Amino acid sequence: MRTKSFLLFVFAAAFMLVLLQNCRPDKTEPPVNTDPDSLYAGTPVTLTKPFKFPAIEIPTGINLTKEGVQLGRMLFYDPVLSSDSMFSCSSCHKQQFAFSDGGNAFSTNIFGLTKRNSPALFNMVWMKKFFWDGRAATLQLQAEDAMQHELNFIDPNVVAKLQIKPQYVYLFKKAFGRPGDITKEKVSNALTQFMLTLISSESKFDSVMRNQASFTAEESHGFYDLFKQDPALNQQQPGVGADCFHCHASSSGDYLTMIDNSFHNNSLDTSNGFQFPDNGQGAITGNQLQNGIFKTPHIRNIEVTGPYMRDGRFTTLEQVVDFYNEGLKVSATHDPLMKFESQGGLHSLSPQDKADLIAFLKTLTDYRFLTDTSLANPFH
Ligand code: HEC
Ligand code: HEC
Repeated sequence: MRTKSFLLFVFAAAFMLVLLQNCRPDKTEPPVNTDPDSLYAGTPVTLTKPFKFPAIEIPTGINLTKEGVQLGRMLFYDPVLSSDSMFSCSSCHKQQFAFSDGGNAFSTNIFGLTKRNSPALFNMVWMKKFFWDGRAATLQLQAEDAMQHELNFIDPNVVAKLQIKPQYVYLFKKAFGRPGDITKEKVSNALTQFMLTLISSESKFDSVMRNQASFTAEESHGFYDLFKQDPALNQQQPGVGADCFHCHASSSGDYLTMIDNSFHNNSLDTSNGFQFPDNGQGAITGNQLQNGIFKTPHIRNIEVTGPYMRDGRFTTLEQVVDFYNEGLKVSATHDPLMKFESQGGLHSLSPQDKADLIAFLKTLTDYRFLTDTSLANPFH
């Protein structure tokens, strides 16, 4: 009899406990989602910081999810985004050329030829301003600008064209939840998510920096004695100091992004007073002291992103190196880091030095990035 009531007591106590548990106000489990339409929440994507790169900060307003990135990838490759359904972002930004328009000085779109060379797209999570003249302060603003100007997305039909495709209706809902409407902002948000995942950090140069490979003698001379050396500190010794790192390396020398997040006039053109053939940053800010100044472009993957400069004036890396050695032009806003502008260039590089500098530049090619199938056209 005693055991029986004891058992009853235990049973009742256990029951009370379960009840109490369920009534706890701070219960943190999310409610079970029974709405088949509301697949929102998304699978979070975490980007991995490559060796000696700065920390990754996802821009405000962007919630990086697998669904968002996948949608962005489809939109990037889909000509449905242009008002004439002929051009996609990938018409001018092609993976095998590190998302530049390899081979073309200018690119073609609905309106004809672009005014400037299509830049390579990668490592943008570490970039602060976009376009050659820096006119977009965030990647999402950039994507909106590209949709509007390159694809004539201003045409309201474009959203309507997406809305009638059940696959996109489903994918937008999956990426952004309810309501499942498609808006221009969601398109640029998804494109931004995809572009943030374009990370290039697996070149031979990276392997050497990680002690997993070594430079040839030529590459080593090209990097350590030329690219990375300041000639002013070496009294212009022959074979030392091509001085590229001041602009084509990160502002903190410890990082390997090779992005300085800055703007310079690298002495490509003469000026008439403060007027340049293309006023660049000055045309945006209205400050004539910034005329002729442009964003430092990528040096990573440089082997495949030609023709070079914002107007694609140089076809080969040989021409680029000749320019820095003996082709500089004097102008009103030249960068103080172009120390030899007044004498027309370094004049210190021998043919062997030039070849070695180029041998180094070619170690920056990241074949894994150029062939990564997860970044390729999903419709093929
Ligand atoms: C017709 C060719 C063309 C198309 C199509 C195109 N772009 Fe571009 N893109 C360019 C050119 C040219 C520039 C440089 C313009 C400038 O700086 O004035 C550029 C610049 C950019 C930049 C800035 C990169 C940097 O380092 O500053 C990004 C990002 C970009 N485009 C993404 C896109 C996206 C996303 C799309 C599709 C919505 C797209 N582009 C469509 C030609 C194109
Ligand atoms: C004062 C800063 C500065 C220095 C120093 C400098 N560059 Fe540049 N470089 C730039 C800028 C800015 C551009 C883009 C200019 C433009 O198109 O208007 C550029 C463009 C380039 C390009 C073309 C990139 C492309 O995608 O079009 C290459 C290649 C290049 N530089 C290599 C070098 C090498 C090699 C050195 C050393 C010999 C060097 N640079 C020194 C600022 C600099």
